[in-house]
Amino acid sequence: MAVELNKIFESFDRNSIFKDKSLLQTNYNPKTILHRDQQIKQIASILAPVLRGERTSNLFLYGKTGTGKTLSIQYVKDELLKRASKESNFKLKIEYLNCKMKKVSDTEYRILAELIKKLGVEVPSTGLPTQSIYNKFIEIIDNEKQLLVLILDEIDQAVKKENGNFLYNLTRLNSELSKSQVCVVGISNNLTFLDTLDPRVRSSLSEEEIVFPPYDALQLKEILNERCGVAFKEKVLEEGVVAKCAAFAAREHGDARRAFDLLRIAGELAERDDSKKVFLKYIDEANMKIEKDKILDVIKSEPKQFQLVLHSIIQLSETKKNEPFFTGDVYNFYQEVCQKNKIEILTQRRVGDIIQEFDMLGIINVRVISKGRGGRMREIKLAIGKKIIDQAKKIIEDSLNYL
Ligand SMILES: Nc1ncnc2c1ncn2[C@@H]1O[C@H](COP(=O)(O)OP(=O)(O)OP(=O)(O)O)[C@@H](O)[C@H]1O
Ligand SMILES: [Mg+2]
Repeated sequence: MAVELNKIFESFDRNSIFKDKSLLQTNYNPKTILHRDQQIKQIASILAPVLRGERTSNLFLYGKTGTGKTLSIQYVKDELLKRASKESNFKLKIEYLNCKMKKVSDTEYRILAELIKKLGVEVPSTGLPTQSIYNKFIEIIDNEKQLLVLILDEIDQAVKKENGNFLYNLTRLNSELSKSQVCVVGISNNLTFLDTLDPRVRSSLSEEEIVFPPYDALQLKEILNERCGVAFKEKVLEEGVVAKCAAFAAREHGDARRAFDLLRIAGELAERDDSKKVFLKYIDEANMKIEKDKILDVIKSEPKQFQLVLHSIIQLSETKKNEPFFTGDVYNFYQEVCQKNKIEILTQRRVGDIIQEFDMLGIINVRVISKGRGGRMREIKLAIGKKIIDQAKKIIEDSLNYL
């Protein structure tokens, strides 16, 4: 045994692919930000008055995932703080908070508690009434004359359960302060998020708006190339590898994070194969792996009723082998499972919606077949491979623990 392991460790020791893999990891903060000059300058000119102690307009940044929003705002934040500490004779604070919190029931409370903590005061992370923690927040800000810039990343996550109450309070904050002033920078990758808000909250939150467009393949290529030389050993990338990652990620709405993931995972696959080079085929494999993980993540996070419908589809496709089956068959099977396990049965229409969502997620393919006289049936086929199906089954069984 020892010998076998030695061989594995040795090949990793030799590490012929990566020079410094951390540059490709998602939490890496690059020193240069390409193709975002315009957005960075816009943010800077909107926020610059804070250096003179003036409150600025609230600002809203949006664009799809991996388009450099977080990166850009962090950069401007750091630059502003560098300047402020040298020149100003008043207090400027810029606090960044990501509103995506792990499964907490009272998101508003948690966000306020986190912000208070960032301002240097300890509060219990649960327990107090939300109103009292809100009052505490105001009291702390207004404790001294200061200008506070609150950057709330993934702000759409803050309103999921609170019906926008939190944002309403936030946009009215200044009317409750006497000594201090607050400006809010909201960030979201949900392009329709603003439309879902109360018009008053919306207009206050997005006094200024900046859009982050997707990167195109050429831009992604340059962004990747910038780090390749330091991340990989010399000459380990087959010609065209970077271009291929860029092309895949551009297709996937211009997501730079996706581009780096592809490159890193392809490198890891090459390393595991003890390959001397990252060949083009590893990009395809990396892409499949990412797709697979994405689908399994979706299945994991879906509510039980979704899992029950998917369970029914998987079971049917296994018993029917190559025979076609339809929405009605799925509904019948689903009903039986619900009855057997004493679970509430959703209407056929609702199950139809769920099936449509699976279609959209690429988990199944739905084909509409005309049956004459305007009748139609929807034929359902699983669109995921055997390996993923097996893992999906395991996830569903663990989560439902009956069936
Ligand atoms: N212009 C760029 N130059 C260099 N690296 C970039 C650039 N844009 C994005 N990246 C890389 O992609 C990753 C994702 O970028 P960022 O976190 O800013 O995306 P985002 O727009 O905030 O996405 P999300 O909406 O998912 O939070 C960064 O960690 C960085 O490594
Ligand atoms: Mg972000």
